[in-house]
Amino acid sequence: MGRLKDKAIVITGAAMGLGYAAALEAAKNGAKLSLVDYNGESLEKAKTVILEQYPDTKIITLVADVSDEAAVKRYVDETVNAFGTIDGFYNNAGIEGRQAPLIEYDLDVFRKVVDINLMGVYYGLRYVIPVMQQQGYGRIVNVASVGGIRGVMNQTAYVATKHAVAGVTKNASLEYGRYGILTNAIAPGAILTPMVAEAFKQVNPADPKKAEAEYAQANPTKRLGLPEEVGKLVVFLLSEDCSYVNGQTIAIDGGQSNSYGNV
Ligand SMILES: NC(=O)c1ccc[n+]([C@@H]2O[C@H](COP(=O)([O-])OP(=O)(O)OC[C@H]3O[C@@H](n4cnc5c(N)ncnc54)[C@H](O)[C@@H]3O)[C@@H](O)[C@H]2O)c1
Repeated sequence: MGRLKDKAIVITGAAMGLGYAAALEAAKNGAKLSLVDYNGESLEKAKTVILEQYPDTKIITLVADVSDEAAVKRYVDETVNAFGTIDGFYNNAGIEGRQAPLIEYDLDVFRKVVDINLMGVYYGLRYVIPVMQQQGYGRIVNVASVGGIRGVMNQTAYVATKHAVAGVTKNASLEYGRYGILTNAIAPGAILTPMVAEAFKQVNPADPKKAEAEYAQANPTKRLGLPEEVGKLVVFLLSEDCSYVNGQTIAIDGGQSNSYGNV
């Protein structure tokens, strides 16, 4: 049993980090999984580990770059071919880009961040929503960030695209709520995933653990979040238990984004 019993759930960026943690939690809750990532090798490893823990889970893996519209259409079509429906969509794949002051930001990196974090999320919605519209049911969770509700020094491209994800979420909720489709976003703070470990390396290449400890001091809980904590929120938002939350960007950050100054 579980919150997602027999629901077909698509997860992008499922090979690592938040996507992988949500896939594990969804499998625990009885979901059928369509796992999408552009890193095919890591994706297969993720599938193997999930099956070791939850051997009855139906899983398909699809190698796709979410910034490639044709590849997005393909992962949607192949999921419908395999499972017949898409009940939940965790539109998660994203990158941080590089950290640099606004006027020095590398333009090619900026465009890549837009292509993946904004266009990738948008293409996913563009092809998944018609499937859900026909079903008269769907749950969508887009991944914004605290950088989608606050500024973050030296991360202009990331912050711009994550604010855009919060905006796209609002519009999807307005336009498709009448079809039984609820669209929300999550705004994680610093959660210990490979992406965040890489960011601490950029902040302090000599001692990334020190950068991590300093960052945790600014959090009311005095620690970073864990991917499985985010996975539990995502499973709720992808389930029928989430029945009247629509268009929200929900922070999961230990309360840090409420603060003005030290805590
Ligand atoms: N970890 C955090 O603290 C944090 C905080 C706020 C928001 N987020 C967001 O959560 C999402 C996941 O982040 P994470 O920390 O798990 O990152 P991660 O780098 O650990 O994992 C991201 C996964 O997405 C895949 N991916 C990246 N670009 C892709 C593309 N174009 N097509 C297909 N797959 C792609 C990667 O291969 C990887 O498996 C991102 O949107 C990120 O911005 C993370």
